[in-house]
Amino acid sequence: MTRILGIETSCDETSAAVLEGKGDQVSQKSLVILSQDVHRVFGGVVPEIAARAHLTSIVPVVERAIEEAGIKLDDLDAVAVTNTPGLVGALLVGVSYGKALAFSRGIPLLGIHHMEGHLFAAALEHRDAVPPFTALLISGGHTLLLDVEAWGKYRLLGATRDDAAGEAFDKVAKLLGLPYPGGRYVEQLAREGNPKRFHFARPMVRKNALPQDDDYYAFSFSGVKTAVLNAVRGSKDIEADKADIARAFQDSLIDTLVEKTWRAANAFSRQRVVLGGGVACNRTLAAAMRTRLEAEGDTVFTPSPRLATDNAAMIARAAFYRFEQGERAGLDLNAYASSPIPGLVAA
Ligand code: KG4
Ligand code: ZN
Repeated sequence: MTRILGIETSCDETSAAVLEGKGDQVSQKSLVILSQDVHRVFGGVVPEIAARAHLTSIVPVVERAIEEAGIKLDDLDAVAVTNTPGLVGALLVGVSYGKALAFSRGIPLLGIHHMEGHLFAAALEHRDAVPPFTALLISGGHTLLLDVEAWGKYRLLGATRDDAAGEAFDKVAKLLGLPYPGGRYVEQLAREGNPKRFHFARPMVRKNALPQDDDYYAFSFSGVKTAVLNAVRGSKDIEADKADIARAFQDSLIDTLVEKTWRAANAFSRQRVVLGGGVACNRTLAAAMRTRLEAEGDTVFTPSPRLATDNAAMIARAAFYRFEQGERAGLDLNAYASSPIPGLVAA
């Protein structure tokens, strides 16, 4: 049995978790997530404030995770830390802390790709959320459609050409006067909206599209965002219209995400679909995904909200795979703002 401490500081959550187990039989012993509320005031994450907040929180957050797991630092077999992608200043806090801990305890260090963490999140709660599957990772910074043949073997089918799905939600929330981060407020508002009053085009979803087309699996959300902007500007009574606009926006986004995921599952004959990232908290999306894919006999797995959004348990979970593959990071481990998810195979 192996026991791994995961650390996540890539954006505005300081998180630590302890997981133990072996292979796909891993159990979560603790998970602590400290969200930095301060960014709400600015309507977006301020990188330097995020980095400084991690610096003050990292020690107590890790101590709490160790305590909740009922273990001592000496009981750890490895430390895994997100080192890419993310805000470099924020990542450096976790990376430096992880290095110091690994060095002082004489245990291995692993650098984990944040999006690979999101890919493993559903497996923490669902025994069957393991490869092969189709994955849709939708967060504030990324939108990735992957075919996952095995852990560590990822075929990147599509990504966004402009805004990430969560970013589109957040920008639309801002246009509608909702708080930051706005995804969940847009979803709430859309529930009261009339779906027939506005209609926004579904980007890159042509009926006669073919798998060899370069936009078959690709995403683009900036057009819908502009459509929302025009609808807001053209509205004579925004208070009366905003729920209908939110509904039309969300319907457009969901239709696109579901259609592209269906295409991928179908093309690779996958029976499982795994969602990850903060936007996977959207229940309307999860329901639409289930309706469409379960009709084909597929199963859709979504992590619960705490594991869908940024957290260290998913980082530790991905680390089990990397650790068992024999991967180790040196004390020269660095942080990178962006880098491709490891294990990409040719499309
Ligand atoms: O994965 P995550 O916690 O952080 C990143 O790695 O970016 O994702 C955060 C994103 C934000 O854009 C937030 O608005 C969005 O997830 N989000 C939602 C919902 N809950 C969170 N988007 C749509 N509907 C939701 N219910
Ligand atoms: Zn994330």
